[in-house]
Amino acid sequence: MIISASTDYREAARRKLPPFLFHYIDGGAYAEHTLRRNVSDLADIALRQRVLRNMSDLTLGTELWGEKLDLPVILAPVGLTGMYARRGEVQAAKAAARKGIPFTLSTVSVCPIEEVAPAIDRPIWFQLYVLRDRGFMKNALERAQAAGVKTLVFTVDMPVPGARYRDAHSGMSGPNAEFRRILQAVTHPEWAWDVGINGKPHDLGNVSRYLGKATGLKDYIGWLGANFDPSISWKDLEWIRDFWKGPIVIKGILDPADARDAVSFGADGIVVSNHGGRQLDGVLSSVRALPPIADAVKGDLKILVDSGIRTGLDVVRMIALGADAVLIGRAFVYALAAAGEAGVANLLDLFEKEMRVAMTLTGAKSVNELTRDSLAIDSHAA
Ligand code: FNR
Repeated sequence: MIISASTDYREAARRKLPPFLFHYIDGGAYAEHTLRRNVSDLADIALRQRVLRNMSDLTLGTELWGEKLDLPVILAPVGLTGMYARRGEVQAAKAAARKGIPFTLSTVSVCPIEEVAPAIDRPIWFQLYVLRDRGFMKNALERAQAAGVKTLVFTVDMPVPGARYRDAHSGMSGPNAEFRRILQAVTHPEWAWDVGINGKPHDLGNVSRYLGKATGLKDYIGWLGANFDPSISWKDLEWIRDFWKGPIVIKGILDPADARDAVSFGADGIVVSNHGGRQLDGVLSSVRALPPIADAVKGDLKILVDSGIRTGLDVVRMIALGADAVLIGRAFVYALAAAGEAGVANLLDLFEKEMRVAMTLTGAKSVNELTRDSLAIDSHAA
């Protein structure tokens, strides 16, 4: 068991949330092998300690497409964040902005773009899925543009939903799901409105705005399920390349050949990601997928990575292996569920401290100085 702030917040989130929400966050696809390896492969990578090198002027900041980040960390797009804490997207965005880092709003957020963007004084990033309903996509892009979004994250590893058996057990999906959620609302009454048993169906931000009505969890899951599109290809993204003026980041790349295709497409960045182990169980952990991708495309576009990052040390490991910055998903969501904005702010402070210790003791004064030389010899092959 790895002890970290993330594991403590995870336990607090487990106690606080109704089971269907905790397991939706915590779980992964199928037998969850990739989910576990995302974390354990990262922890196995040994850092190379260096000493007595006067590390007093250490900086953690970086820049992505002209945007300054005080830490090389971005909050990942996480659907339904406003269910884990009241107006959760706004709370998380505020904690990110205070720390000087970007917040990415999911397509399937609870709080709409128009609520989250004006709540902070730096542009939010916006994530879009490729959905059958192209009208929804166009509408979402126009609204994001109007709200001042510059960086668009395009998630491409969800042409079909992953097989998530925990969700079927917990009452998030499957037969009798609504019945199970209603039972859980009895023991977690503050979540009753989320499952629609107080007669007021929950408003699901971007989707409800588009559909022109408040949608309960059941309608939302139905809409999303009908909207995955297995026919998507690079061709489907071309109109977006023409339409969107800001940086476009392709999220869900795990193979060097796809990373090269992203360069040919004209992407400004990629996120090396297996969706936190939530899509295809059995694929490589992100940290093992990263080095060959960095060898293939480093310098041609920005390389971001996520999946399995739970500590500041993990951030250092990913950057040493070729990432320009990282996204964190569950780590911030557990903290948000447990303690709201203050929890996310505290988690980010701890990430910063852990990064400072790791960089001081590996002799890297800035993220640019973190390279494969910052790792111990035996982990180069990892
Ligand atoms: C996600 N992720 C995700 N990704 C995305 O592009 N759009 C989305 O709406 C969601 N929703 C979502 C919900 C939940 C509960 C989780 C845990 C994850 C994936 C997310 O952006 C990111 O890739 C992973 O969370 C990274 O892995 P870690 O940091 O959670 O291990």
